[in-house]
Amino acid sequence: MPVQFRQEVKDEFETIASRYPVRRAALLPALWLAQREFGFISMEAVKAVADLVGCSPVQVLETAGFYTLYHKEKPGKYHLQVCRTISCLLNGSEGIQKAIEQKLGLKPGQVTPDGQFSYQAVECLAACHKGPCMRVNEQYHENLTPEGVGKLIEGLKKK
Ligand code: FES
Repeated sequence: MPVQFRQEVKDEFETIASRYPVRRAALLPALWLAQREFGFISMEAVKAVADLVGCSPVQVLETAGFYTLYHKEKPGKYHLQVCRTISCLLNGSEGIQKAIEQKLGLKPGQVTPDGQFSYQAVECLAACHKGPCMRVNEQYHENLTPEGVGKLIEGLKKK
């Protein structure tokens, strides 16, 4: 089903695009707007972004595909992204991933049947000095331990 940006979002994009020398340079913020509006970057959202920015859908797909912070599938209500890059790895990110997998019964890329949680192992989240770290939706959680992740998940289940 086709999706369309609301007029307010189109206006917001025009303000953003005016800060860039060429319209296509505002592709990343356009993708953020699409994710905020539509929940994830579906093929319909790709077409809407291409129309908004004035580039081809393939160019939008190539860009969205490069960044794990753009969701290509519908995420759970709580989307857990665990950093698996070197600083976090050396500080125990594998234990964090195991704790999530045991607690939620998920493998990376999966969503719980009730749609509450989804989980991804991702590359550097730019909080290397506080690893292991994870994002839950837009919020960072740093210096994690397996026990702390378990408590965090339990807290989210009660919300
Ligand atoms: S290595 Fe994990 S945030 Fe950079």
